[in-house]
Amino acid sequence: MSTATTTSLTVQKLGGRLGAVLSGVRLGGDLAPETVAGIRAALLAHKVVFFRGQDHLDEDAHEAFGRLLGTPVAHPTVPSADGRYSFPIDSDYGGRANQWHTDVTFVPAYPAFSVLRAVVVPPYGGNTLWANTATAYENLPEPLRQLADGLRAVHSNAYDYAALRPDAVPEQLARFRDVFASTKFLTEHPVVRVHPETGERTLLLGNFVQRISGLTGADSRALVALFQAHVERPENTVRWQWQTGDVAIWDNRATQHYGVDDSDDHVRKLRRVTIDGDVPLGVDGQPSRLLEPSSVPDPAFGIASGASTAEPAA
Ligand SMILES: [Fe+2]
Repeated sequence: MSTATTTSLTVQKLGGRLGAVLSGVRLGGDLAPETVAGIRAALLAHKVVFFRGQDHLDEDAHEAFGRLLGTPVAHPTVPSADGRYSFPIDSDYGGRANQWHTDVTFVPAYPAFSVLRAVVVPPYGGNTLWANTATAYENLPEPLRQLADGLRAVHSNAYDYAALRPDAVPEQLARFRDVFASTKFLTEHPVVRVHPETGERTLLLGNFVQRISGLTGADSRALVALFQAHVERPENTVRWQWQTGDVAIWDNRATQHYGVDDSDDHVRKLRRVTIDGDVPLGVDGQPSRLLEPSSVPDPAFGIASGASTAEPAA
């Protein structure tokens, strides 16, 4: 009988800039170390990796697999529904992430990896796109790379939800205000982050960005739009059409993603386990800084992003 220790992992590239389909593995908490090492290497190389047919996973096995990549962390403000790290991304909670973003960048040590599992898939639409923020930086003209290297940006969870979602119903607005933005976080990150495992330079932007430090609103918006456009170029992205039982894992330090909101009122349910990251460093070695509040409070359940890794001395 085939067991985890005899798994042979195959990697098939999906896009030129990022994305690969991994097959020959049944995900769970019991994978052999060499299989985990193979998945991690593919993840760092391809930024987002996809697995079909993982229907056997439940909440426990999903989390147990996540633990092979690092320490699961709770969302800083949204409580876990059932005392688990698995975070629901459900269409009926207004969970339509149709803005380009990197998960949880409003705290300093935002997650390194997200492991997303499709539980209920709509009959059409609801695809997810990912963009490679390392190639977005690498392909900038030299003068723009130099400009980006010296910039820092403030990220916050307290963005103008109503302005982004003019069709939001009052329950969605209340949930955003009372849950998602119940604690207002402001974090200053370098716009160019040096990846702690690959050494690559990545653009650290996305929809939690409020402004570029030291610039006026108009200049800030123009510069964010300029760099963000390089992230979002179609050639710099890959698109995944979900089937039930699919799992996607992405390197949250080298990607942005976008959930396409085009499945009308059909139900879409995914579960996400996020794995702790560390405090970003810019090209000058300066770390990200939490501006507000004075520390990341403990979530209602589990540990918060950044809690498993030491703060840098600086
Ligand atoms: Fe997300």
